[in-house]
Amino acid sequence: MPIRKPRISKVSINFIVFGVFLSCFPGCILSATVTLGSIVIYDTHEFIKGVKPIVYFTCQGENKTVFPDVKEKNVSYEFKGEESWQPLTEFSSKKCKRCGLYEKDTFKSDDIFDEWELCPSDFDSSDGKYVRFKSKEFNASFSCPKCLPAASPDSKSATVAHKEEKKNGWHIVLVILIVVIVLVVCIVGGVVAHKFWQKKKREQDQARFLKLFDDGDDIEEELGLDHVI
Ligand SMILES: *[C@@H]1O[C@H](CO)[C@@H](O)[C@H](O)[C@H]1NC(C)=O
Ligand SMILES: *[C@@H]1O[C@H](CO)[C@@H](O)[C@H](O)[C@H]1NC(C)=O
Ligand SMILES: *[C@@H]1O[C@H](CO)[C@@H](O)[C@H](O)[C@H]1NC(C)=O
Repeated sequence: MPIRKPRISKVSINFIVFGVFLSCFPGCILSATVTLGSIVIYDTHEFIKGVKPIVYFTCQGENKTVFPDVKEKNVSYEFKGEESWQPLTEFSSKKCKRCGLYEKDTFKSDDIFDEWELCPSDFDSSDGKYVRFKSKEFNASFSCPKCLPAASPDSKSATVAHKEEKKNGWHIVLVILIVVIVLVVCIVGGVVAHKFWQKKKREQDQARFLKLFDDGDDIEEELGLDHVI
């Protein structure tokens, strides 16, 4: 049993790295256009009856998209998504945008049909549609098929798991790094200590040898003198 443990953790490291690699792609490079599928306006905000409304859509900081055909109340306008003024906006990340439907007003500031946070995760039906309905104002359906992979509940939980995996991944990388540093320090320290010990031993041997030589000389001298005398 204890032998199996490291193998499992190795496999899970591989899995985490692979998972992070895979799950990063759809999340990092989300480029999804939003188009208008259909719209009905129930009311206009014009004081002078008979004046055709100018209805437009815009997101904060972006260009206005005027719907040139939407002029009558209670008429359902259907669009293919390929009209000259489409798409309405584009998502480059999972971040929401502050968007709205407005009516141009010649005399005062533009009237607001509605203003809301438009999020890629709103397009969660199987065909990537999102219906915005406001009582007595309008009913509009928006389409964003490419928002789907980023918005499905599966990938939402995957995002959380992905974050968790990433955290674990970093943790493991840090541990490996520390182990490697400690190993390198130990090896270098061992080599240096060994070299030092060798040098010291050599010096000691040399000193002992020289001392032996000196002692021998002295004895020889003494012996020599003895002979002469
Ligand atoms: C907004 O409109 C201007 C000119 O009408 C155009 O140059 C610009 O690229 C547009 N910006 C976006 C984000 O569509
Ligand atoms: C639009 O339809 C609603 C019911 O769907 C009705 O109450 C309203 O009077 C109609 N308005 C016009 C201008 O036809
Ligand atoms: C709004 O429009 C959508 C799509 O056209 C439709 O399915 C839905 O029933 C409408 N809702 C209301 C309240 O009219």
